[in-house]
Amino acid sequence: MSNNNSLMAWIDARFPLTKMMEEHMTKYYAPKNFNFWYMFGILATVVLVIQIVSGIFLTMHYKPDAALAFGSVEYIMRDVPGGWFIRYMHSTGASAFFLVVYLHMYRGLMYGSFKQPRELIWIFGVLIYLALMAEAFMGYLLPWGQMSYWGAQVIVNLFAAVPFVGEELSVWIRGDFVISDATLNRFFAFHVIALPLILIGLVVAHIIALHEVGSNNPDGVEIKKNKGPDGIPLDGIPFHPYYTVKDLMLVVVFLMVFFAVVFFAPEMGGFFIEHPNFEPANPLKTPEHIAPVWYFTPYYAMLRAVPPMFGSQFPGVVVMFGAIAVFFFLPWLERSPVKSIRYKGMLSKTAILIFAAWFIVLGYLGVKPSSPDYTMLAQVGTLLYFAYFFFMPVFSSAEVKKTTVRMIGSAVSVLATIGMIYYWFNADGASMAMTLFASIATIAFLIIYLIIPAFYKAESIKPVPERVTDK
Ligand code: HEM
Repeated sequence: MSNNNSLMAWIDARFPLTKMMEEHMTKYYAPKNFNFWYMFGILATVVLVIQIVSGIFLTMHYKPDAALAFGSVEYIMRDVPGGWFIRYMHSTGASAFFLVVYLHMYRGLMYGSFKQPRELIWIFGVLIYLALMAEAFMGYLLPWGQMSYWGAQVIVNLFAAVPFVGEELSVWIRGDFVISDATLNRFFAFHVIALPLILIGLVVAHIIALHEVGSNNPDGVEIKKNKGPDGIPLDGIPFHPYYTVKDLMLVVVFLMVFFAVVFFAPEMGGFFIEHPNFEPANPLKTPEHIAPVWYFTPYYAMLRAVPPMFGSQFPGVVVMFGAIAVFFFLPWLERSPVKSIRYKGMLSKTAILIFAAWFIVLGYLGVKPSSPDYTMLAQVGTLLYFAYFFFMPVFSSAEVKKTTVRMIGSAVSVLATIGMIYYWFNADGASMAMTLFASIATIAFLIIYLIIPAFYKAESIKPVPERVTDK
């Protein structure tokens, strides 16, 4: 026995290292047909590590004190050796994290990775997404720039809109009547320890759940259903060395792009670090236009799209949080017998594209100062965003069978659309062109989500092959 093996034997007698390596790497059989979209889980893990390591180094020089925070970040940028590099890695990492996670989630939507038996992988994922949003929001206060301060002010004030307990709730979150040193201290505690612990715990749970049921793939074929005489899935290959080697190459390419941004465009024209954040927080001077960082803007646009009711912003807050919460229900909203978009009908394909396009439009609108035209566009976007989820049971089952739900759905939506168009023609301040566009978009939505499904040819889904394809 070589020295190496005897060391392994010594460890294995005390800790199941070989067993764990086999279970999660060398004998974890992943489908052989993974494509480009399957790299984002690994990339999210890489970015998580980048954020934790760069965060540790930032914490060594950062001062969580309202009087010192801004100056300590400037000190990191100018005086700490390599400080600028660590700081830009962390700020670019935040945007990279969301970019990668959005693509990772979109992959899940396309290939039905949230469907049975992967519901829990998805739910852990949505919890990760929520934790990540909280992590980014609290981290953004720490440099104590103008946008840090006023962004936090706007978002924490939203909690004040909650009926009855709102005021107390917002004071409880801030630890003060306005964003202050007390807020900075608690956000620091959450950002550097509480939320990272939660995030890591959730990611571990996410991977354990994944390795329990096995990965889905672009064909949506369950590889465990086709095993050879040795009990190994015929379409599976060991994760290590096959995917570790492939992923290593993708990680290198990703890091090249990542560091190109860190070195040459770390502010990304104000999208990754907003310009007002180069000015220290001033509680007496509100910036002209307050907008969150790009990854929150689709939800911010939805918040602004909903008109206040009885002078309260609460409906907008419900819509904004509802837009995230709805992801939890996805495994039960999708009714298609087919997982992958490859084998679904035109309805599902159109719906997912409309959803993605409007998510991007909403993101753009959230960056822009509000205007009557943009508000109207954001209302269409919000409507279509929710339509994707609410009508999913209708259009996903329409591809297989005709249902009464569909017919009733069509009738209800005709009425809702008439109401919506009436509202738009009476909306204050919006231009005629935008009103017409909003109305046409609503009619198009009605046709795509409800009228077509009602008359859809039931056999539009394609037969799924027994084995994975090599496309
Ligand atoms: C820190 C963030 C995250 C990390 C590190 C992470 C990591 C991973 C990894 C390594 C995989 C396996 C490789 C792959 O399929 O790409 C995976 C799969 C998966 N993740 Fe995530 N993930 C994260 C966030 C999310 C989020 C936010 C969601 C959804 C809301 C999600 C849903 C899924 C699903 C459904 C799968 C299974 C995909 C399949 O088998 O087709 N993940 N994740």
